[in-house]
Amino acid sequence: MEFPKSQKYNTPELLAKIMGPNPFKLQEEMLQNHKIPAGSTVCDLGSGQGLTSIMLVKEYGFKVYAADLWSEPQENRKYFDEMGLTDEQIIPVKVDATALPFEKEFFDAVVSTDSYNFWGRDPQYLDTKLLPFVKRGGYLYICVPGMKKDCHENLPKELLLSWTPEQLDYLHDIDYWREILSHSRDAEVISIYEMKGDNDEIWADWLNQENEFAMNDRKAMAAGGGKYLNFITFVLRKK
Ligand SMILES: C[S@@+](CC[C@H](N)C(=O)[O-])C[C@H]1O[C@@H](n2cnc3c(N)ncnc32)[C@H](O)[C@@H]1O
Repeated sequence: MEFPKSQKYNTPELLAKIMGPNPFKLQEEMLQNHKIPAGSTVCDLGSGQGLTSIMLVKEYGFKVYAADLWSEPQENRKYFDEMGLTDEQIIPVKVDATALPFEKEFFDAVVSTDSYNFWGRDPQYLDTKLLPFVKRGGYLYICVPGMKKDCHENLPKELLLSWTPEQLDYLHDIDYWREILSHSRDAEVISIYEMKGDNDEIWADWLNQENEFAMNDRKAMAAGGGKYLNFITFVLRKK
């Protein structure tokens, strides 16, 4: 698969800031044929250091709230300034996705890359914690790292080289997510599918980084653990 938009961001400086498998490529694939109008106010939920948020402003023309728990908004603001983005275009905020501090129906859309699996596994989450902040008819594009087939009862030894059973509990298959999403009364599930981008390529951009987390993840992937893993997108619309 080609990633024309991501190529602009795949510089050593920007890749040094990624927090997992290449988020630019994941986001680009997820947003192919998306239905969010340019100019929309979009929440990049779990935005990390805002790399995906920058891409959402520059490549898709959205006004973006870079909403994240573990990163510092002041640092993200400094970085957005360096990237030439104004306060009107991008707003960093520290949020817990389970207690969002916005007005009701504030966002036209939500985009989330490689984060939702941390907090969205509660079947009640969507209706009680997220959808109240999205306008009716608004789209949600969410992609998560997942498993081809849930195997939590018998975890492959390759995966256990890098991750504990507790960490692996963040990863699930499409059936698991379909079941979770089916509990929502307020979201229409437009689609849920395994992403087609080359897994090895998307992982390699991360594993090549010289930080302790990437180095830890190399063990499972070098042993062939990638064959159990995938990436999953779900597209939802608030009714
Ligand atoms: C693997 S990083 C992905 C960051 C970014 N989306 C990307 O792809 O580069 C996961 C992010 O989820 C965020 N996160 C975890 N729990 C969260 C919560 N309860 N509310 C908001 N963000 C959360 C963390 O702050 C972290 O930045």
